[in-house]
Amino acid sequence: MADKLPQEMESDSWAGDMGEKWNTYADQFEGMIAPVGKAAIEYAGFQAGERVIDIGCGAGATTFQIAGQVGDGHVTGLDLSQTLVDTANQRLSKSGHSNVDFICADAASSSQAEYDVLFSRFGVMFFEDPYGAFQNMRTFLKEKGRISFVCWGPPAEQPWVGQLMAIAAKYVELPPPVPNAPGPFAFGNQDYLRDILVKAGFKDIEIARWQGSQNLGGSQATAESAARFVMDALFLGDALAEEAEEIKAQAYQEAVELLQGFVVGNKVELQGCAWLVRANC
Ligand SMILES: C[S@@+](CC[C@H](N)C(=O)[O-])C[C@H]1O[C@@H](n2cnc3c(N)ncnc32)[C@H](O)[C@@H]1O
Repeated sequence: MADKLPQEMESDSWAGDMGEKWNTYADQFEGMIAPVGKAAIEYAGFQAGERVIDIGCGAGATTFQIAGQVGDGHVTGLDLSQTLVDTANQRLSKSGHSNVDFICADAASSSQAEYDVLFSRFGVMFFEDPYGAFQNMRTFLKEKGRISFVCWGPPAEQPWVGQLMAIAAKYVELPPPVPNAPGPFAFGNQDYLRDILVKAGFKDIEIARWQGSQNLGGSQATAESAARFVMDALFLGDALAEEAEEIKAQAYQEAVELLQGFVVGNKVELQGCAWLVRANC
């Protein structure tokens, strides 16, 4: 039995495999988190003329949305994955936006200046040293700048994750979760998140709950296509990567049966919980 974490629980693979995978399945990933991304952009309250940096921008979906809101301002998308930055630049060349650029850099250690707003949709939970990373990112901002991002709430509030992991747990030994470990659920504990922000020097911290549905596998999916996505691009396939093909096929079938219970029309709707976070310098 393998003893390993799902790949996206590891923090150091975004410049490599995870970035490649996000790039390959960008449409499905972006379609899945579009509703929470819309809420995060509204929560940020962008103003015309602002200079924004979109941390962990991936293929740039939110970067382009923000560009439409800041008018003669500017948005820089920053990501660790060169592959994703290349895709974002390809999209940029077709987009007609003149107020956007993309850079490949590590938000935890690079120097960037001088922005009014630091935004992120699920790009700030992967730092090995989040205290150091947030202190560094604060230096990207002007004196009166602000931060506004969305991160996932605790895994217990994303019931579908546990249900899918239970399928994996039938075949592999999964290590117990490590509280606050870098990964999608690093900031599920609001006290920990607040402590990081306070120690980085942010004030007026507000955390609001987002609760809503996400469309697994994108905006058009069946139980079968969503289960394929979970096997190919999400944690279930990663957890079973070293298992025999028959086990993967069995797990896929179990995922299809589970996900049939979440089909609504031509979508597979899963409930999720996220924190909308904002604070001032
Ligand atoms: C879950 S994806 C979200 C992508 C994008 N924000 C979106 O919503 O479509 C997380 C992104 O954060 C990026 N990332 C992770 N750690 C990073 C770091 N230290 N510096 C810059 N980007 C990072 C990854 O490469 C990846 O593109």
